[in-house]
Amino acid sequence: MKFAQLVHQRYSCRKYSPDLIEEEKFNLILEAARLAPTASNQQPFQIIIIKTENKQDELLKIYHRDWFVQPPIVLCICSLPAEGWHRHKYDNQSYAIVDAAIVLDHITLQAADLGLGTCWVGDFNPQAAREFLALPEDVNPVAFTPLGYPLDEPKNKIRKPLKELIRFDTW
Ligand SMILES: Cc1cc2nc3c(=O)[nH]c(=O)nc-3n(C[C@H](O)[C@H](O)[C@H](O)COP(=O)(O)O)c2cc1C
Repeated sequence: MKFAQLVHQRYSCRKYSPDLIEEEKFNLILEAARLAPTASNQQPFQIIIIKTENKQDELLKIYHRDWFVQPPIVLCICSLPAEGWHRHKYDNQSYAIVDAAIVLDHITLQAADLGLGTCWVGDFNPQAAREFLALPEDVNPVAFTPLGYPLDEPKNKIRKPLKELIRFDTW
């Protein structure tokens, strides 16, 4: 698929089939994540692969939507701020969350290219996630996504016009 077509085709899927994902497709998605650019190439992230089978009740404590637990897989993208690049010369701003976001964007786009659905989930309960995944202190859960075959249809993309989103030279 052409990239311009792919960015139109990716959408937030909120209804999934329980069908398993072929290993070959899953590996392509993980490889797309692995190849994501990160600040100073520090790669300060981990992807936690969660098989939803028999874990639905626990997962719903993390994010309470039926569709979250419908597919066979849920991914949690974590950042590892201590391993990531900081803008240390100036304000020490951490870029680890940005890195994790790019990783998940690669995942969502590769999944869409393979006909699979995803949905960014940022509105999860971090404490419930920490407990369920037994996350060490220095691991920061950034976002989840279900991953599976979509059973809904993409909606029209509602976006601001470009003229509201860009500026030339000055604010
Ligand atoms: C950082 C981030 C967090 C999001 N968190 C949630 C969420 O918790 N629940 C949800 O249903 N959608 C979530 N979304 C999906 C957005 O609502 C969705 O991307 C947006 O409405 C545009 O729709 P589209 O993805 O279908 O193009 C999130 C998206 C992003 C980028």
